[in-house]
Amino acid sequence: MVTELIGRIERYLDVAPRARADAEAVGPFTLFRSRMAHPFFARPSAGWAPGYATAADVGAVCERQRELGLPENVEWIKEVAPELGTACKDAGLRVSEHPLLVHHDALAVPVPDGIRIRRIDDPDDPVLPAAQTVARLAYASAGTAVHDIGRNERNAATEQRAPDASDDLRQLIRDGHSVVVVAEDEHGVLCSGGHNPVGDVTEIVGVGTLPSARQRGLGAAVTDTLVADAIRRGIEVIFLSADTDDVARVYERVGFRRVGTACVASAV
Ligand SMILES: CC(C)(COP(=O)(O)OP(=O)(O)OC[C@H]1O[C@@H](n2cnc3c(N)ncnc32)[C@H](O)[C@@H]1OP(=O)(O)O)[C@@H](O)C(=O)NCCC(=O)NCCS
Repeated sequence: MVTELIGRIERYLDVAPRARADAEAVGPFTLFRSRMAHPFFARPSAGWAPGYATAADVGAVCERQRELGLPENVEWIKEVAPELGTACKDAGLRVSEHPLLVHHDALAVPVPDGIRIRRIDDPDDPVLPAAQTVARLAYASAGTAVHDIGRNERNAATEQRAPDASDDLRQLIRDGHSVVVVAEDEHGVLCSGGHNPVGDVTEIVGVGTLPSARQRGLGAAVTDTLVADAIRRGIEVIFLSADTDDVARVYERVGFRRVGTACVASAV
């Protein structure tokens, strides 16, 4: 069912990518063509009605993505377009489902000893490349388990980044489209994450902890600081999609509740 809350998230998801991408209508979909290094996806256009898309519609948007050299990728909220999973599978895509959560309760979240949590206010802050490296290394080790990838790998990978590799994010921070929070010890960044405010709704994105620093409360503390920042801005709906139920539990511990299902379809 499309509740008022899901409707607000759905409207946000139609608007927010436009700060980073150009929107192109392809049948019943909006294809977001990224102006940044990171590619986007297609999603149902505003005004989606049940039963709207066929496998042929999905095939057409994938063909356009291939033509543009983009990955074939469709994202949607299951409650908004419950039939789209079948259309995507019939078009030959692989579909995955992820918990969609909204912040509901303010809980006391401790900051681990020896850790400083801070929002990056200066877009030219020299720590930004390390923050992005931490997120990349975190996502390369999906799930919540501790691994031995740590400080040395972070430092080596940060040094290898192109000098302009943080320019897109610096501009988004400058323009107020992105807020970034980091958790650091005396040797550097261990966890980072962000939120992307649009009006009174925001999405928490890219929370990642260096694999060797997991299960110490850093992910929870960074998420809680992002939530506090959003609330200070007067934002009413703070949502995110978690990769798995295990990851969702980390967010539930800081006051998020599951409200729906986010779907992703991509080429097999
Ligand atoms: C998801 C992720 C960000 C969590 O980061 P984290 O810093 O390990 O998060 P936390 O330490 O706050 O919580 C993780 C677990 O450690 C536990 N924990 C926290 N402090 C602890 C402590 N001092 N001692 C023991 N366990 C502790 C938490 O209770 C939680 O347990 P649970 O998995 O049973 O719920 C991290 O695993 C990651 O980067 N994963 C890959 C990227 C990803 O999926 N990101 C999220 C996208 S939505």
